Amino acid sequence: MSAYDEVYEEDAVLDLSGESLGEEGVASSSPFFVSKKAAAVLKHEILSRYVVPFASKVGTYAPDGRVVYLDSYAGPGRYEDGTAGSPALILEAAARVAGFRQLDCYFVERGRKSYRSLSQLVAEAQGQGLTAQALQGRAEKHLGSVLERAAGSPLFAFLDPFGLGLGFDALTQDIFGSRAQQGLTGRHATEVLLNFNANAVRRIGGLLTSTKQNPRKPATLNAMDAACGGGWWRQEFLDSADNQEAVERITNGFVDRVSQEIGSGAWTIEVRNRAHHQVAYNLVLFTRHNDGMWLFGEAASLAQVEWRRAQLAPAENGMLWNPVDAFDDEEASRARGWVHTIRENIMELLETKDDFLVDNHQEQLMAGVAGEAREMHIRAAVKELYKEGKTRCNGVGRVRMLRVTRP
Ligand SMILES: C[S@@+](CC[C@H](N)C(=O)[O-])C[C@H]1O[C@@H](n2cnc3c(N)ncnc32)[C@H](O)[C@@H]1O
Repeated sequence: MSAYDEVYEEDAVLDLSGESLGEEGVASSSPFFVSKKAAAVLKHEILSRYVVPFASKVGTYAPDGRVVYLDSYAGPGRYEDGTAGSPALILEAAARVAGFRQLDCYFVERGRKSYRSLSQLVAEAQGQGLTAQALQGRAEKHLGSVLERAAGSPLFAFLDPFGLGLGFDALTQDIFGSRAQQGLTGRHATEVLLNFNANAVRRIGGLLTSTKQNPRKPATLNAMDAACGGGWWRQEFLDSADNQEAVERITNGFVDRVSQEIGSGAWTIEVRNRAHHQVAYNLVLFTRHNDGMWLFGEAASLAQVEWRRAQLAPAENGMLWNPVDAFDDEEASRARGWVHTIRENIMELLETKDDFLVDNHQEQLMAGVAGEAREMHIRAAVKELYKEGKTRCNGVGRVRMLRVTRP
């Protein structure tokens, strides 16, 4: 068993409240694949809302319209209650785009039981004419062959392990590095969405100060080094005031290092089961394309709405107000707050520039509301400022193409 497996196994225990582990490294009585938790609502909404625009966009560079999708930690495909897991969602997306894109899907799963369900789902998809394959075994084992099959086509990889996933080098060199020379279908059409696990950071970081005897400690710490691209994270953990700060610092450090190494932009979205819970994991997108940054921002914002909706308690008899009715009002009030923040961001930009193109300033415009607000809120902010005579841009037209000018 490698250091990676050990950490994975440990983390599975952690995720699953210390129950005994079955063949998946997941407790046999685990609720994980029985029904979907709110964290997975956000993850799946983001994934399924992003993959279609990604495939539509980058597929224009592929001569045959073929786009490769890799899910290296696929799970069984569906939860036991029938709800779609990431493979079922992506196969549904593949069916939706089949008229103009061939989404060539590879699903890798190590666990035997999950693989059995997965391969059944994939066989059904093949029966409908979709191109999909279920591969049994470890993510690392299948990476090379999937990359070979993706040569000459755009690639989107979803890496969603329970604990530590592919190492830093596999991510930066094998996935991104190997495709850097492949022109339009390589460098600019390679994206990765990964789950950077906060439980792993908290648990493995805790080993640094733990005085308990643990024979696996050195291997576990080394595995974290390999995942993070060096031991830099250790000092970050030790310098943090608490676990929350440690997760933030180490996630940001990882994202910055990967982005720098591969020359990409990145989005980081915190995922929790409940608003007041600690972060379960961060979903991180690495993209080298401005379109990717914008499309993902839209997907994340819309996904957050569904995540908030999933938090609603069902109305009960005798309740004086229905939480579902209040939901729209709360959303509207949130949106007013975002528009207000974006207005201030615009005014700040106009202090130093006579005019600017929205497309080139996503980060500054969305400061403070990134992952929450979307393009429609930028338009609303521009329109308000126009009405007040604070810009000559009337907010009409494609949002990203708006040129915001001083009056
Ligand atoms: C978080 S679950 C995946 C959930 C799935 N992506 C979804 O959203 O529906 C992680 C899965 O990865 C599998 N797994 C763990 N280590 C693996 C490895 N080294 N290679 C491939 N699969 C692995 C586990 O058996 C588990 O089914």
